[in-house]
Amino acid sequence: MKINLVEDLEYVKYAIRDLVPIAEDLERRGMRIIYLNIGDPLKYDFQTPKHIIEAAYKAMLENKNYYGPSHGLRELREAIARHEKSMNNVDLDPDDIIITLGVSEAISFVTRILLKPGDEILIPSPAYPLYLSIPIIYNGRAVEYRMIEEEGWRPDIDDIRRKISDRTRYIVVINPNNPTGAVYSSNDVKEIVDLAGEYNIPIVSDEIYNKIIFDDVDYSSPASLSNDVPVFVMNGFSKAYLMTGWRVGYVYLANVEEDVRERVREYLLKLARLRLCINTPAQYAALAALEGPQDHIIEMNNKFRSRMELIYKRLMDIGVFESTKPKAAFYIFPRITDEKLSDDKDFAYKLLTEAGVFLVHGSGFGVYGRSHVRIVTLPPEHMINEAMDRIEEYISRLIAGS
Ligand SMILES: Cc1ncc(COP(=O)(O)O)c(C=O)c1O
Repeated sequence: MKINLVEDLEYVKYAIRDLVPIAEDLERRGMRIIYLNIGDPLKYDFQTPKHIIEAAYKAMLENKNYYGPSHGLRELREAIARHEKSMNNVDLDPDDIIITLGVSEAISFVTRILLKPGDEILIPSPAYPLYLSIPIIYNGRAVEYRMIEEEGWRPDIDDIRRKISDRTRYIVVINPNNPTGAVYSSNDVKEIVDLAGEYNIPIVSDEIYNKIIFDDVDYSSPASLSNDVPVFVMNGFSKAYLMTGWRVGYVYLANVEEDVRERVREYLLKLARLRLCINTPAQYAALAALEGPQDHIIEMNNKFRSRMELIYKRLMDIGVFESTKPKAAFYIFPRITDEKLSDDKDFAYKLLTEAGVFLVHGSGFGVYGRSHVRIVTLPPEHMINEAMDRIEEYISRLIAGS
């Protein structure tokens, strides 16, 4: 029997995992692959802190294994409201917070309630690839605004203004940024907030890396820089609390009148109800994460930073990459300066199949990512050195042979 499939999912892509089947096939055939593609500290030598695991275990033993409320456990929402007050200075009713299956589900929910077919969202370019594909699922499209590489990957405010149209439904800010590791200055964030206010467009603020910042840099959430520009704040436990596989995140809408807040809450809740709830023991673990000791964050960031410094140095020594030094998160996004290697997709493919190093082609992050690659800076030193040796050797072979 023939099954009629929709055709419009053709363009739904997620560059970070595009080459996974090829890598798995190479491994089956005996090649040892060094994975530098997925931003998951738990794939290397980082572990979820013990008190977080114990909280989940305790919840399970106490039979808190039931379906919870669709918008999340009240205790967790209360803790998030307190936390967001201290981080972003926003006054939240815990009922305004919806617990989601990671930030990923929050992005999907917010897009579903704002986009009609043909609508647009404005996203930074390069951007975390989910933002390129999510609008397609809802029959809209992503319009990319330029990040200026020469100025440390700061947002091009004039480009945002040029690209706002009467179909723009939200403007995305990913700060700190994946894939560039940049932190936007408060001044730039304020300019985006003012622009959004001028055109009556809400902001979607992805703050998943806001605890992974290396220097004493100037960082502000758009939610804290205005009282009257609506901001959907999204955050989660995957990165800062080393809980990638637990799948807990949240979203709330700041800076709107009570009636708007209520309608948005009702709509988000409609979507949340369809998937019943988020894993209940994982929510107790997230509660322990927020309320328990935070010491692992400093230690973890020190490690992230020294590994990033090592990759940065090794990459610069190779001679065919240029990059700003990341200030946050755990990625580096160098530009390939040698013309012969600058087809980033081809470069990533060949590096995987010929040298066994798996990194992600920059064009998978948007048009301004062309001729770049994204490298995860998480592995331990010996693995970084081996990966960099392999890249160096592959490139010198290639250049010598041409
Ligand atoms: C910018 C950004 N947003 C969202 C996500 C997804 O996070 P979660 O695990 O909370 O779904 C990621 C994951 O890498 C990310 O880098």
